[in-house]
Amino acid sequence: TRHLLGIKNITENDINLILETAKEFKEVINRPIKKVPSLRDITIANLFFENSTRTRLSFELAEKRLSADTINFTSAGSSVKKGETLLDTVNNILAMKVDMVVMRHSSPGAPHFLSNKIKANIVNAGDGTHEHPTQALLDAFSMQEKIGDLRGKKIAIIGDILHSRVALSNIFCLQKLGADVRVCGPKTLIPKYLTSLGVQVFENVKEALAWCDVANVLRIQLERQQLKYFPSLREYSLYFGINKSILDELNKKIVLMHPGPINRGVELSSDAADSSHSIILDQVENGVAVRMAVMFLLAQKN
Ligand code: CP
Repeated sequence: TRHLLGIKNITENDINLILETAKEFKEVINRPIKKVPSLRDITIANLFFENSTRTRLSFELAEKRLSADTINFTSAGSSVKKGETLLDTVNNILAMKVDMVVMRHSSPGAPHFLSNKIKANIVNAGDGTHEHPTQALLDAFSMQEKIGDLRGKKIAIIGDILHSRVALSNIFCLQKLGADVRVCGPKTLIPKYLTSLGVQVFENVKEALAWCDVANVLRIQLERQQLKYFPSLREYSLYFGINKSILDELNKKIVLMHPGPINRGVELSSDAADSSHSIILDQVENGVAVRMAVMFLLAQKN
């Protein structure tokens, strides 16, 4: 059984195949008749043990465009609240003859744990601070659409790198595609292992912006921060916040991205998020085609 658990363990060829397939699906879903029969008779369970807007709706729409049957589970309102374990929850859902599981969970490694225990295909829709592979794929797709081949391109990931699964999956994906990836953020939000991945760090946001072709800006993940020495949102915004005048001062073309949800006025001002540099809503649009590609390819390899 095939899974998409992360970007770390897939190859450049795998990534290119997904992105090429996504390009074809993007054409399909821009036609008047958007639906294809590719996953007819395949049943997919969307299991969201953690909050989501974009990823959850984008997977569901991608499944509908592929003609799959879908069931949706969120832990709020479920029997998880009565103490049922993750494995029992998933096995009970699989007993209803489900072929593929899309799962978001707050514990890093939760989909990897399940992959050794169940027969269905698993797609990781975000596991705690670990990986968010379909986000990295849709980010790479959106970058290619805007600036072409990513080999040698300069990409800065700016924000709370320590708590971000988007940062880690982006780093793996963009490095495999030949980009030069660097990060920028407060020292306390930069994990130590980045040097072993060959990722350089900017401490000054203006220097990072002056260097890069693409700035992928991340949210401060307050829900994952337990320690007291992280910057307050006010401090973060003062030293690392990006607004339109900072972008205009660069006097160059720059692509501005954000995986969402944006904390407007913290990491991005509204005039930057809504500026002509921003491709934030293109990322969301592309998420549907990229997720169609992932599920279509996994279903072929059963
Ligand atoms: N980008 C992203 O994963 O957003 P959601 O948490 O709303 O799914």
